[in-house]
Amino acid sequence: MSNEQKNNQSNDNFKSSIGFVLACVGSAVGLGNIWMFPYRLGEYGGAAFLIPYLFFICLFGWVGLSAEFAIGRRAGTGTLGAYAYCFAKRKLEGFGRKLGWIPLMGSLGIAIGYAIIIGWVLRTLWGCITGELMTADPGAYFGAALGEFGSVVWHTIIIASTCIILLLGIGGGIEKANEIMMPIFFLLFVGLAVWVSFLPGAEAGYEFLFIPQWDKLLNINTWIMAMGQAFFSLSITGSGMIVYGAYLDKKVDIPQASLRTAFFDTCAAMVSALAIMPAVFAYGIGAGRGPALVFLALPKVFQQMPMGQFFAIIFFVAVLFAGVTSLINMLEAVAESWEKNFNLSRKVAVLTSCAIALGVGVFIEAEPKVGAWMDFVSIVITPLGAVLGAISIYFILGWDDIRKELEAGHGKLSDMFGIAAKYLYVPLTVIIMILGLIYGGI
Ligand code: ALA
Repeated sequence: MSNEQKNNQSNDNFKSSIGFVLACVGSAVGLGNIWMFPYRLGEYGGAAFLIPYLFFICLFGWVGLSAEFAIGRRAGTGTLGAYAYCFAKRKLEGFGRKLGWIPLMGSLGIAIGYAIIIGWVLRTLWGCITGELMTADPGAYFGAALGEFGSVVWHTIIIASTCIILLLGIGGGIEKANEIMMPIFFLLFVGLAVWVSFLPGAEAGYEFLFIPQWDKLLNINTWIMAMGQAFFSLSITGSGMIVYGAYLDKKVDIPQASLRTAFFDTCAAMVSALAIMPAVFAYGIGAGRGPALVFLALPKVFQQMPMGQFFAIIFFVAVLFAGVTSLINMLEAVAESWEKNFNLSRKVAVLTSCAIALGVGVFIEAEPKVGAWMDFVSIVITPLGAVLGAISIYFILGWDDIRKELEAGHGKLSDMFGIAAKYLYVPLTVIIMILGLIYGGI
């Protein structure tokens, strides 16, 4: 890549546009796709749920993700610098930088809890590899990790591996890791989805997932849950996607890359649903969501399934990859901002971010603590971060400025983009935050 094409930030850049999209897909595809989407799809109307879901995915992908990528590329830096850049327009650069700490702490906060959960995934994978989980009671097996300091080793391995990937840099670490892990994730999940389709009784799962219940579209909760799911799934937090934008070649078409990210994220959610629900129904195990689905229900399914150990390993490897690729993004956002803000070397910034994530995380490994922590961060901080991001980009910096960055590599955008961004997307971020507070998370 020539210097003119390179962005003006000091870390290296993504080497290819596909590498960038895979990294963004890696960030977007995570536990939200695997343990929330399948349940919500069935619970809120089956195929009918896809109407609001796809609407919000397209809207948030088109004007929301694009904006976060574009401000990162325009400012040439991640969270803190990007807010400073927006507010510099109003001669309030210092204030903007301070404000950026809110979304940045959202990224760190989510990373702290997420790393613990991915540690549980790794432990469960190990239980499948050794065969212990193939005979043990999944409740007892999982429960053994839920006490104080209950999974320090697994949790440490996760953060250490993420740290190594970050230390290898953007092209050689983040991009490479995503180029390997994301295709493997898709391959494994598609394979699983095909396999479970042969299980007797799988039809009940497809019925749960896809028989449209059109009346659910008249229920406001369907729309609210679809909106919340789309938002979380795309990792719109006013932080993580900004830093990936900062590493982006000026020639890349941002709106197109955003839609590709949203497309693959939706594919991941669909294959998760197709891999999980038919299996759960085939064995008559209640279709739950969240940790209960992944750590309790699915191990029970694998215990009974032919070649269950093999498929359990495949499943948990894929979940592990989905989780780690999201964690990479959260910790990169923190490390980059600290590197630039405190004039640290990348190495020191990465090590500090990871050490803090682990140092805080080990004290909240007990299940009630990590649960409360994740609720607080995901209900209060990250939605607030997303609101701050949306307002800072579209109203403080303004549509005319961000439009220039969005059009670089894309060509002229229609005025509809700006209207949808300012008068639909930005108010919706505020509504999501308020509804999240009212509902205790959406
Ligand atoms: N977007 C990521 C997920 O769905 C954080 O888990």
